[in-house]
Amino acid sequence: MKVKHRSRAKTRHVVTGALLVAGVVLLAASFETPVRVQADDDDGKDWKVERGLAIAPVPLNLAGKDRRLVGLGSYIVNAQIPCNDCHTQNTSTQFVPTGNPYLLRPPFTGRKKVDPATYLGGGNDFGPLIPGSAHIVSRNLTPDRTGRPEGGHTFEEFREILRTGIDFDHQHRTCSGAPNETCVPPPFNGDLLQIMPWPTFQEMSEQDLRAIYEYLSAVPCIAGPPAPSPLHNDCE
Ligand code: HEC
Repeated sequence: MKVKHRSRAKTRHVVTGALLVAGVVLLAASFETPVRVQADDDDGKDWKVERGLAIAPVPLNLAGKDRRLVGLGSYIVNAQIPCNDCHTQNTSTQFVPTGNPYLLRPPFTGRKKVDPATYLGGGNDFGPLIPGSAHIVSRNLTPDRTGRPEGGHTFEEFREILRTGIDFDHQHRTCSGAPNETCVPPPFNGDLLQIMPWPTFQEMSEQDLRAIYEYLSAVPCIAGPPAPSPLHNDCE
């Protein structure tokens, strides 16, 4: 009994010691210099604006635009959400041949370079949801001659697209009979964008959506294939 008691006391000592050590470590950690956040305001928005403007892979038309929103939008599109990975044909057209970071060196020079000629021009064919039905193809997001992005949509429309997935362009409907190239098979909803990650994007803040829209209206227009291709854009 005595022996048992003593060993219990010993255990207690060991535990107390360990707790003390942990406490000292924690205390020391709390005195360390906090991680420096490169930001002028709460969540680093100003830093993001400058970074966004610096990393845009195309010349930006800032005339009449809110520079801050454009910069933030560029940060979101070029550093966070890879819109261009889907809204360009494929990785071999997304980058110029010598600037494709997925390739060996050479041909890769070691410096990533997005191809401005295809940037956000759409045309990535994800194939049909089931064989024989409509191919799901990403859209041209660049502004047309109205200056509004993705085929002249207003911000209100853009916000609705990203919040609800609604397809104002009706590129496909829900098949009523046998599937064909114009429809998507139930249970998929043909009125909604498929593959496009709007169920995630719908959670974004109003300001972030505005920033993306403002940025998309500042990138150069890409005409794409001739009309009536849905990828065509009237630049002039
Ligand atoms: C995983 C691939 C993917 C990513 C990432 C993606 N999209 Fe899309 N997006 C698509 C596809 C595919 C469509 C067309 C869907 C269809 O036809 O059903 C589309 C459609 C759209 C449309 C509708 C266009 C129109 O004219 O109505 C908008 C707007 C859009 N995307 C914006 C964006 C933005 C902005 C981002 C980045 C924040 C983005 N997308 C990221 C795949 C993607």
